[in-house]
Amino acid sequence: MALVTTKEMFAKAYDGGYAIGAFNVNNMEMIQGIVEAGKEEHAPLILQVSSGARKYANPRYLKKLVEAAVEDSGLPIALHLDHGDTFELCKSAIDDGFTSVMIDASHHSFEENIKLTSQVVKYAHDKGVVVEAELGRLAGIEDDVNVSAENAMYTDPDQVEEFVSKTGVDSLAIAIGTSHGAFKFKGDPKLRFDILEEVARRLPKFPIVLHGASSVIPEYVDIIQKNGGSMPGAQGVPEEMLRKAATLAVCKINIDSDLRLAFTAAIRKHMNENPSHFDPRQYLAPARELIKQAVKHKLVNVLGCNGKA
Ligand code: G3H
Ligand code: 13P
Ligand code: ZN
Repeated sequence: MALVTTKEMFAKAYDGGYAIGAFNVNNMEMIQGIVEAGKEEHAPLILQVSSGARKYANPRYLKKLVEAAVEDSGLPIALHLDHGDTFELCKSAIDDGFTSVMIDASHHSFEENIKLTSQVVKYAHDKGVVVEAELGRLAGIEDDVNVSAENAMYTDPDQVEEFVSKTGVDSLAIAIGTSHGAFKFKGDPKLRFDILEEVARRLPKFPIVLHGASSVIPEYVDIIQKNGGSMPGAQGVPEEMLRKAATLAVCKINIDSDLRLAFTAAIRKHMNENPSHFDPRQYLAPARELIKQAVKHKLVNVLGCNGKA
């Protein structure tokens, strides 16, 4: 089996009321932990690489590791560029053999977003690659915005039909109140399901993507805090909200922070309990194992895509 696009995965996920996990990868242990979980749960996977990950690991290394994962697992796996912000970056990922790219032009005007997204779609589709775009902007907890500014960041459902028909994009990331990182809400978590439902009504059977969808697993934050780390105020998206999104039009749920937490929690705990260890395999093996446990939990309890490979 070769790398696949997300087309078939999303069509089945939409009809089946579940979502595919898109997991950010930066190194071999993360890839192995995610893929082991996918194997045990027989789940399709999206492995995604940010421009930061490309700089850190060199895309050629990551591509080869992902190819090894496909060969080893036999699972349907898509290799996706996360948050590509220029045509050149998307083109380079496509030329490197990625099967899916995100062009994130959400910080541009609506017209510019359409123009840049269309340019990427044209190049990608000619090569059999699928494209995700974004409308609306994800808030950061550090953005101390007033209510009207906050409303302006949410995706405007009035724009989605024009955007999708003019660009020909394959999936759309929308802003309904999630944000990146481990500090997502100051008070009670709130997501605008009314916007998601209206977008789904306007775009029948069209796959929607949710970024910033880590639940910031409290158990891992706890391990980090008990082993010398400090993360006061860490808070993620409650799992029941993610489950609900997965049963609606959301077909792709992006998870990075929860994997970072798992990796760091395992290493902190191991080093705290074994101060004399200095062989990296001694602490990277438990880190890989906790990534696997975290992903298995997501596949079964949050995404519902176990058994769907
Ligand atoms: O959305 C961003 C992802 O969490 C990737 O983060 O750019 O630090 O690799 P990164
Ligand atoms: P988290 O920071 O919530 O894991 O979001 C990751 C993401 O959206 C990657 O694109
Ligand atoms: Zn994102």
